[in-house]
Amino acid sequence: MSSSDRVIIFDTTLRDGEQSPGASMTKEEKLRIAKALERMRVDVIEAGFAIASPGDFDAVKSIADTIQDSTICSLARALDADIERAAEALAGANSGRIHTFIATSPIHMQHKLRMQPDQVVEQAVRAIKKARNLCADVEFSCEDAGRSEIDFLCRIVEAAIDAGARTINIPDTVGYAIPHEYANLISELINRVPNADKAIFSVHCHNDLGLAVANSLAAVVAGARQVECTINGLGERAGNAALEEIVMAIKTRQDLLGVHTNIDTPHILSVSRMVSGITGFPVQPNKAIVGANAFAHESGIHQDGVLKHRETYEIMAAEDVGWHANKMVMGKHSGRSAFRSRLLELGIELASETELNAAFARFKDLADKKHEIFDEDLQALVSETLSEE
Ligand code: KIV
Ligand code: ZN
Repeated sequence: MSSSDRVIIFDTTLRDGEQSPGASMTKEEKLRIAKALERMRVDVIEAGFAIASPGDFDAVKSIADTIQDSTICSLARALDADIERAAEALAGANSGRIHTFIATSPIHMQHKLRMQPDQVVEQAVRAIKKARNLCADVEFSCEDAGRSEIDFLCRIVEAAIDAGARTINIPDTVGYAIPHEYANLISELINRVPNADKAIFSVHCHNDLGLAVANSLAAVVAGARQVECTINGLGERAGNAALEEIVMAIKTRQDLLGVHTNIDTPHILSVSRMVSGITGFPVQPNKAIVGANAFAHESGIHQDGVLKHRETYEIMAAEDVGWHANKMVMGKHSGRSAFRSRLLELGIELASETELNAAFARFKDLADKKHEIFDEDLQALVSETLSEE
């Protein structure tokens, strides 16, 4: 199954994203986001952790009852009560998925679970079988897989697939992996687990070292065909892989990656803004894809290049992610060509090169005193220039 060239986008903004300290959302807010994710054609929406609280249960249920085109997923520990609660919340879903997990790293098994590896395998298998009795679509995650031993991972993944899991998620829970190491982990699993062809391998990367997107893409090259991610990279601690970056990297570098997603990319910016508005987490200006400066050019050399041919300094079109257009920021690094072009956009055509030079000199003086020169500033300085001549 991993040989398909489509990468399934699994959005966990409403579950792992909500685990960002301070990012909790109401049921109504979650439903608004879920509808926007569905419009953007996200394949799987992890709507919450049904057993976590009555509010989380209600949110998962209301999303499951409403959304038609995306699969709705609830997280559940490998425990009967969690799985039953998840199934109950998902009962009305057009397409539902139970996502069950247990930790597999030595440090988690010894100190957190206080269980022997054999017991962990047994509990995982039991949980998956129980989930499969309640829901046809079951995902299994090996929590802290990034720090787990490969032989044990192979063993538990094989058992999980035999028990009925059809998606196997290999999370880098603490954001510890680096790209080539994580890619090797995924390819080794796909090559060594005898029944690997019966499951889709998924990745779920945290951003503690700022490598979540790079690790996810390396895993896709190694054969993973589901990426778990969040809008604006929201998530526990330093966050999860950012959906907008994963999707646009796959689209922009299809030549090299050879895969695609179903995402309708012009929705990206509005969903990013919705999530930022609801959570109160601002998007930094230099954030890739959705930051205010992602398609802005300030330096004169860059502005001149872009005006002559967009692709000199842009690797994707601003419109493809929902911006109206790229933006020429008028500031002290801007050159004459961008200055003239902005004046023309404002309907100002100066009669001679002398007038243009005088207005440009005035613009440079002002730009030394102000971070950004707005259209009103340009209009004013042109009027002043002309009135002095
Ligand atoms: O980071 C993680 O390991 C998780 C799992 C529950 C999938 O969020
Ligand atoms: Zn996580």
